[in-house]
Amino acid sequence: MRLERKMEAKESGKLSEAYPMKSGDGPYSYAKTSVSQKVVIDFTKQLMNKEVGEKLDIGFSSSSPPEVFSIADLGCSVGPNTFSAVENIIEAVELKFETLGLTSIKPEFQVFFNDHTSNDFNMLFKSLPPNRRYYAAGVPGSFYGRIFPEASLHFVHSSFAVHWLSQVPEEVMDKSSPAWNKGRVYFSNSRDEVIKAYKDQHQNDMEAFFKARAEEVVCGGLMILIILGIADGIHPSESGGHRGFDLIGSCLMDMVEKGTVSEEKFDSFNIPTYLMSPHEFEEAVKRNGSFTAERIQVLPHVKVNGASLTAQQVTNCVRSTLGELIKQHFGEEIVDELFDLYLKKVEEVHPSSIAEADKTLSFLAVLKRN
Ligand SMILES: C[S@@+](CC[C@H](N)C(=O)[O-])C[C@H]1O[C@@H](n2cnc3c(N)ncnc32)[C@H](O)[C@@H]1O
Repeated sequence: MRLERKMEAKESGKLSEAYPMKSGDGPYSYAKTSVSQKVVIDFTKQLMNKEVGEKLDIGFSSSSPPEVFSIADLGCSVGPNTFSAVENIIEAVELKFETLGLTSIKPEFQVFFNDHTSNDFNMLFKSLPPNRRYYAAGVPGSFYGRIFPEASLHFVHSSFAVHWLSQVPEEVMDKSSPAWNKGRVYFSNSRDEVIKAYKDQHQNDMEAFFKARAEEVVCGGLMILIILGIADGIHPSESGGHRGFDLIGSCLMDMVEKGTVSEEKFDSFNIPTYLMSPHEFEEAVKRNGSFTAERIQVLPHVKVNGASLTAQQVTNCVRSTLGELIKQHFGEEIVDELFDLYLKKVEEVHPSSIAEADKTLSFLAVLKRN
């Protein structure tokens, strides 16, 4: 049994492909461009306080709450958003201890920052808040496998990460399959077979995600996820978020026509993300059976400094998340041209049709380990 467990941990690094966000602090870096994600994380702070206050249930009644409270942020990237999320969680847990009158037994906090091995952990560690109230550790590896010991986490957080698939579904790359995604880089406007291949990949990934978390989270512990998704019951082509991915395909197709990109390279490129609906998420939770969904709430479109995102901001944000993936596949030389074209297309369709469309959404899910 011991040996098997060790092997599981060893294998988890291989469980999924890695698509790193743009590191550093340049104009296209994730740290600089992910302001709208930060606004959503901050927006959820009050909900977090409420849910932790009411639902976190780890030995408080038997008066033996943990002396070390373990938190993991899965898909943390390079900061600063992960630091805001962690700070919010710690405040909520401390508030819970105070409310219960447990003022003499303040826990120490251990925070695990998880991402793929190729994430820029150096940058993450360098920018850790100097006045933090926790012990920090990096945990490399895919969250689609086991990355923590059994029953070792009291709180799992993850924002804007689980829409990344562990891989592009194999069938969409296979020329002999009816699901071969020729002429497109995403599934939302593709044939039903392609949509099904993405859907199946996503279901398998969610199954692996919940299986691993069920083993790692203590009974009564919480998992709070902020998920980039789509509205219930719509066709994938109706979502603004998907439109943003489709525009990448349209720009690349223009570049094929111009001869800057080969048709073969284009046909072998597919974006490995899947935006799920709240209903699909709920079904995945039920299929796993180890967690109770305490809250699944669609979040409003929150503006950054009261203003809608400009076409340039939308483009920079997409570049910081997809730019490295595109560079890996097509080479660095096409990236500037591609995103110049992208900016023009976002201006044409209007940035709000991607970032604020009704059918693109983020939702908050609060799950409790049974
Ligand atoms: C868009 S960033 C979100 C970063 C941060 N959580 C936030 O809210 O701003 C998504 C992150 O998830 C990571 N990620 C994607 N799939 C992953 C996986 N299977 N295991 C671990 N990290 C993953 C990516 O490498 C990336 O850093």
